[in-house]
Amino acid sequence: MKQKREQWGSRWGFILAAMGSAVGLGNIWRFSYAMGEGGGSAFLIIYLLAVLLIGFPVMLIEFSIGRRTQTDAIDAFKKIAPKSGWFIAGVMGVLAAFMILSFYGVIGGWSLRYLFEYLTGGISGDSSDFFVGFIGGTFTPVLWQLLFMAMTIGIVYLGVQKGIELSSKWMMPILSFLLIALAGYSLTLGGASEAFAFMFQPEWDAFRDPQVYLSAMGQAFFTLSLGMGAMLTYSSYLDPEERLTSSAAIIIALDTLFALVSGLVIFPALFAFGLDPAEGAGLVFIVLPNIFEALGGVGTLVGLVFFVLLSMAALSSAISLLEVAVAYFIRKTNLGRKKVTLIVGLVIFALGVPSSLSQGAMDITVFGAPFLDFMDAFTGNLLLPLGGLIMVLFVGWTWTKKEILHHGDVGQQAWGPLYVFTAKFVAPVAILLVLVIGLMNW
Ligand code: PFF
Repeated sequence: MKQKREQWGSRWGFILAAMGSAVGLGNIWRFSYAMGEGGGSAFLIIYLLAVLLIGFPVMLIEFSIGRRTQTDAIDAFKKIAPKSGWFIAGVMGVLAAFMILSFYGVIGGWSLRYLFEYLTGGISGDSSDFFVGFIGGTFTPVLWQLLFMAMTIGIVYLGVQKGIELSSKWMMPILSFLLIALAGYSLTLGGASEAFAFMFQPEWDAFRDPQVYLSAMGQAFFTLSLGMGAMLTYSSYLDPEERLTSSAAIIIALDTLFALVSGLVIFPALFAFGLDPAEGAGLVFIVLPNIFEALGGVGTLVGLVFFVLLSMAALSSAISLLEVAVAYFIRKTNLGRKKVTLIVGLVIFALGVPSSLSQGAMDITVFGAPFLDFMDAFTGNLLLPLGGLIMVLFVGWTWTKKEILHHGDVGQQAWGPLYVFTAKFVAPVAILLVLVIGLMNW
């Protein structure tokens, strides 16, 4: 006999879990390097626009599909539109979950390793040599990746309420507190005004670069966990009567705030030490340890706090990635949550090994980029926007206006018609335009 499907214990449990999914490596590691490479403020402005014009409607759309169908990312489409091809969005979502978590687990492992280093006194010597030496190893980074995946598997294994919800209720407040403390400290280091100029003073030239649009939109999808059914899956554990619009607004506002404050942790410290914000993906693993070292004794503590923060943020997102695939296989097989979680988690770990090895141990490249970097750009900048596009088209063009309003919980709102218009036209056109222009320039 089939067991009753799980549900969240409370509305705030859901909001904190969804926020945990949104706030992750994307807000700290990915945001800081994408912004550093995208010219700072130009990237930030386009990113904020993408969050508002695309992120908000896409999140509501995922929520409305999930809450309406009460099932996983693939079945949801089949339930509403049987005998049609829309479920491809769900298939892409489950695939994206495998792909993203495979490399996400590698970086989560790096973060755990750094946490451990700062717990035992910090990194001595040249931080760049340390990083390159560590990630270029064969076994060590894979072991840390395994540890990170084991923690992720452990939480998802315990289920929606006892695992995901409970851990998010603990992690999110701690994360917020640590982040604010770190930003307060970083702003005293002397680089605050340069950081503000870099983040907030528009640099008009960068607006002419189509790549900046693509990477800013990709960042919006990635950081809000959109386009692959993670938010759909989480909202499928909601009571069908539960409100959606205010939850989406809270999650988006807090995720954006989290990214901005992370910028206020990283960039003031960076400028205070005269370092380069366009350092790339190694920014938080090379540049920040340099700064922690220069701070002397207190630097070890600051470094420890930072990597506790980064590891927790990564973990609360990783569980949502795993849950997308687990929810699907729980329904598809009769193995039950525990077995499914173990198997899927270990398969994803194995898929991540090439990403880890591509960082120096072996020469694994796609289109000239190391495998991990390729997976990161491919999923974030291409797969997620494409998945989001299919979902908005599905809701915008196959649901009636009444359904769009009702299932999105927008019926009572004055901006209801604007939402329908955005779902039908603004969001799909914007996503398509940025994708096409970005790809043509690739
Ligand atoms: N939003 C997460 C982050 O910013 O790190 C990453 C992520 C989680 C992306 C879940 C997609 C997803 F479905």
